[in-house]
Amino acid sequence: MLPNLQKAVTGETLHGIVSEHLEQTKEHVARLEQVFRAAGAEPSSNLYPPVEKLAQHHDEIGGSIPDDRLADVYHAAAGATTERIEIASYDALLALAQTLDLGDGVQLLEQTRKEERDALEKLEAELERLAARLA
Ligand SMILES: [Fe+2]
Repeated sequence: MLPNLQKAVTGETLHGIVSEHLEQTKEHVARLEQVFRAAGAEPSSNLYPPVEKLAQHHDEIGGSIPDDRLADVYHAAAGATTERIEIASYDALLALAQTLDLGDGVQLLEQTRKEERDALEKLEAELERLAARLA
């Protein structure tokens, strides 16, 4: 989702938010691999189906919006929706990690969830700003 968003957005601030979070996400993947291995499980690279569907929908719709400013509102909303799904997933993973008493794994997941929440906050603020510009 983020690489597609990064290519699609035209606004400088939104592009910066997406690019920064794309870099963070690479670290998130490394942390998840570490947590899964600590739990004795092999991580899968399959996309979570709701995010995969959201990305497909975004790509279908996003490219057909002729106005760049309106398209960026759509991109920001799609990004925010993705972050909400990720945060919910981290809530569940954290509950499991705490149950399994994964120690460092819990801290890694908490750190990632905080960064996901921060990204959501930035996307929501930018979404509001971009939408207000259209009024
Ligand atoms: Fe994220």
